[in-house]
Amino acid sequence: MCSAKILKCRDYHVFPHRLIYWGFTSIWFGRTDVASVTPWLAPIVWEGTFDATVIDSIYKQQNITVATTVFALGKYIRFLKDFLESAEEHYFVGFQVHYYLFTDQPEAIPNVKLGQKRYLTVKKVPSLNRWQDISMGRMEMLEKLIENELAKEADYIFCLDVDAKFYGRWGVESLGRLVGVIHPWFFDLPRFIFTYERRPESQAYIPAGQGDYYYTAAAFGGSLKDVHHLTKTCREHLNTDAANSIEAIWHEESHLNKYFLYNKPSKLLSPEYLWRDISMGAGQVKIVRFSHVTKNNAEVRPNL
Ligand code: UDP
Ligand code: GAL
Ligand code: MN
Repeated sequence: MCSAKILKCRDYHVFPHRLIYWGFTSIWFGRTDVASVTPWLAPIVWEGTFDATVIDSIYKQQNITVATTVFALGKYIRFLKDFLESAEEHYFVGFQVHYYLFTDQPEAIPNVKLGQKRYLTVKKVPSLNRWQDISMGRMEMLEKLIENELAKEADYIFCLDVDAKFYGRWGVESLGRLVGVIHPWFFDLPRFIFTYERRPESQAYIPAGQGDYYYTAAAFGGSLKDVHHLTKTCREHLNTDAANSIEAIWHEESHLNKYFLYNKPSKLLSPEYLWRDISMGAGQVKIVRFSHVTKNNAEVRPNL
């Protein structure tokens, strides 16, 4: 097939085989408007950097299970229905997913019909009266979950915020040993603006001039072993800070950023994988896969 576009190919007289290449998808050319690899050669996943059919066919040959943790305490239980329904539509479709749902109100969990080979386990946890404690407390619960239950149950794990919804494919292209997601407010900003913890007294301290990316704590994952080490380290650092009466500026997110500085993620996901709000556009984000929903913090949180 020789389309007009193909015939315009610069060197086709010299290299006729290039005609064949031009017939393929743009994946062969990748993205030129964003970096799709880190300085340590980890891929940064953007639309246009992978072929879903190819990558699905590779992982289909393996019998993988993706554990997925989500916390819904207090009023955040209201986000669960959309979270789960949209996950069933877009998240690892056709693969085994085991949701681990941590809540203080098991009786209030919405009834969502799960697809084949999709499972949900509920873990009852105590209510807490500071949202910061709920958010930070996730690290220890994840550490213990991986330690005590997941070894034979899953291959990979993703830990996600509940106040978010899926709008597009989130699939096996996201899998890796240690996976971080670039925060949607900072992907196109210089490092000096990143909201790292800047007080040397905190275990999360990152000095000016250091740091690679600013990662969100609303989504991270990887192999069980690597995420166990991550959650254990962050939990230890959170405990040390608490003992020293200091709380990092963005709680466990500050500790996660410190962790990723010294333990480089093997794969990064672009802000397509955790966007700000579905109604906000951005040139580089061609598809929103998972996005925070708008919420009234003062109304949904137990404290300010
Ligand atoms: N969370 C919860 N109940 C609360 C506060 C927080 O279940 O009262 C959990 C929930 O999973 C939420 C996560 O902690 O997605 C992080 O908190 P939040 O989403 O409020 O932080 P933000 O993304 O707004 O910084
Ligand atoms: C906000 C987000 C917080 C935290 C902060 C970091 O947009 O809601 O959770 O990530 O950015 O500066
Ligand atoms: Mn959130």
